Amino acid sequence: MRFSRMSAVGSAVQSAGVPLLVVSMIVTTAIAGIPGYFILADALGPERSGEALRVYSVIALCTAAAEGIALAIGIYIFWRLSRRIRTLNDEIRALVRNVLHDLRTPISRISHASQRILGGDSCAEDAAADISEACSRLLSIVDANVEITNNYARVGEPPPDAEDFSAIVAEAVELFVAVAEMKGVLLSYELPSQPVVLAAHRHKLQQLVGNLLDNAIKFTPSGGRVSVSLSESSDNAVLVVADGGVGIEKGDLPKIYDRFFRAERSRGTPGSGLGLSLVRAVVAFYGGDIDCRSRPGRGTVFTVALPKRR
Ligand SMILES: Nc1ncnc2c1ncn2[C@@H]1O[C@H](COP(=O)(O)OP(=O)(O)OP(=O)(O)O)[C@@H](O)[C@H]1O
Ligand SMILES: [Mg+2]
Repeated sequence: MRFSRMSAVGSAVQSAGVPLLVVSMIVTTAIAGIPGYFILADALGPERSGEALRVYSVIALCTAAAEGIALAIGIYIFWRLSRRIRTLNDEIRALVRNVLHDLRTPISRISHASQRILGGDSCAEDAAADISEACSRLLSIVDANVEITNNYARVGEPPPDAEDFSAIVAEAVELFVAVAEMKGVLLSYELPSQPVVLAAHRHKLQQLVGNLLDNAIKFTPSGGRVSVSLSESSDNAVLVVADGGVGIEKGDLPKIYDRFFRAERSRGTPGSGLGLSLVRAVVAFYGGDIDCRSRPGRGTVFTVALPKRR
């Protein structure tokens, strides 16, 4: 409500307000200068009143120009701010809409299962299992959103430890070997022989690698391959997760890090569309970079660079 009022003020200033402000500025400058002109004309005497008028005009013009520049800068800053506020407002609205939409499904499941129990359904255990699963989903949606927000706000974290990123990647791959096998996806990895030490938080690095691996395996059909590699340059640790899966349409690439975004073709696979948002938030937390190259039907490559020193 307040945002829309502010943007309305912004539009008013941009349209009718600007010419009015300029005119009033010139007029007030002129009026304010009149006493100065009379004082000057009086001091110079009647024979030099032309000179007084010239001096006054130059001063008035310079003042008007300086005010004009200041006003233009002010209007530009206001316009930029109101545009940014409008964008943020749209983002918040979309986020709330998506959160509510995603919370609705597990809440309806809980409600439905409770009704079954209350109605004396003989399979109360199944209903309880449904409730428990729906609660886990609710919790994971809430937790992921809190994590993403905290990463951007940089709150709630103890100082980082010296973590061996290579060991964390190896552990993550070990965890996903069984998932890949079950799906018929070949998972391979290549790690440096030396530890890759980062000043970081273990759980954040685990979330980063885990989500990229989860996606790579999830979006690769049976018979496909997923590879993970870690290397280091003088400044960065570089993680590459590549798959030969379904790929991402060019038009979807800018949206994949948005909370709750899921490409049309992935709607059939489980997920909430929060994994990559969290990955990007973690990368931003460490001041790193993330890049995604993808070809629909051919596969996807995610490259993450995390600075070794911060
Ligand atoms: N490796 C990949 N191959 C193809 N599409 C991908 C890949 N990684 C991400 N995507 C696309 O980006 C979307 C967003 O990914 P993200 O990890 O945020 O969500 P998700 O995997 O669908 O759900 P969640 O991570 O919350 O379980 C995916 O739904 C999918 O459309
Ligand atoms: Mg995911």
